[in-house]
Amino acid sequence: HSNEAMQMIEAHNLLRKFYHHLLVNTKEGQHALEYLLERGFTSESIGKFQIGYALDSWDFDFKFLTNKNFQPALMEKAGLIIKREQDGSYFDRFRDRIMFPIFDRNGETIAFSGRSLGAHKPKYLNSPETAIFNKSKILYNYHLARPTMRKLQQAILFEGFADVIAADRSGVENGIATMGTSLTEEHVSILKKNIQTVTLCYDSDSAGIEAAFRAGNMLHNANLQVNVAIMPDGMDPDEYVKTYGEEKFRNDIIHSSMTLMSFKMLYYRKGKNLQNEGDRLLYIEKVLQEVSRLDKAVEKDLYIRQLADEFNLSLEALKEQERQYYSKSS
Ligand code: GTP
Ligand code: MN
Ligand code: MN
Ligand code: MN
Ligand code: MN
Repeated sequence: HSNEAMQMIEAHNLLRKFYHHLLVNTKEGQHALEYLLERGFTSESIGKFQIGYALDSWDFDFKFLTNKNFQPALMEKAGLIIKREQDGSYFDRFRDRIMFPIFDRNGETIAFSGRSLGAHKPKYLNSPETAIFNKSKILYNYHLARPTMRKLQQAILFEGFADVIAADRSGVENGIATMGTSLTEEHVSILKKNIQTVTLCYDSDSAGIEAAFRAGNMLHNANLQVNVAIMPDGMDPDEYVKTYGEEKFRNDIIHSSMTLMSFKMLYYRKGKNLQNEGDRLLYIEKVLQEVSRLDKAVEKDLYIRQLADEFNLSLEALKEQERQYYSKSS
């Protein structure tokens, strides 16, 4: 790290400790702490994930940092304060927000994501990209999850911080999340270096399902085993744990995950009546198109046999049609 980068990291580490102190020990942070406890966060999680609170003030961070002799221009570069165009004065980026510190693989704080308590937009405000923070390479909770990930040769990929934390509280310690962005090839290659299997556990809404298809295909193409753990309609993992409890989350969601292909089949069945000839043909077509994208002959064979059995079709006809899709897509 350059000297500037080291100062940026030091400022983040100091602020992280202070935000945490404000949340757990002060009157100013009390409403934020109550909000978190009400949502099901435990004191233990709040400590483990070093969650904090940024005061409802325009210059608290600015004063805190300049009192510690950090240069305002550098703190602006670090994304912690913002310069006013008019007079060149500075104001704090994070105000009246629950603060989730983002750690690098060595456990240094390199960024924050601040959640608004009320209806203030955006719901989550992230640090900008800086010399020490590159969103497309960072996975939330990677530094804590890595030993368990490697031991189990598996990671659970969630959409949000709250999901990672609720899973951890349930004893699922190999959870990670992207920074509210889509999975990147850089993320995939980090995962590829550590593990064999990724279990996707995204929100059960249209955005989450679409993201699961996309991330699932990327991970599969990198030769990772992909499983999908699904939530009841409309729920996310953090709501599930709060509603049904930790044990049901572990057993009925995480340990009941299915392969990516089974997930896709389930999805294509939705809203279709397979007793109806038109729907049935449409479903078979969708599945054969997915099969045509698989690269292993054994995998193809498995799913084609499954279709043949279920719909009483000849293997020859299914294989013939699959080959047509295959030659079209390649
Ligand atoms: P909670 O409402 O706190 O439980 O959040 P969530 O994790 O359920 O949020 P959601 O499913 O809406 O979004 C998933 C993730 O996307 C979040 O954890 C954030 O990382 C990110 N995200 C959500 N809203 C915003 C936003 O307004 N701005 C940015 N930059 N990221 C967001
Ligand atoms: Mn979502
Ligand atoms: Mn969510
Ligand atoms: Mn949520
Ligand atoms: Mn394959």
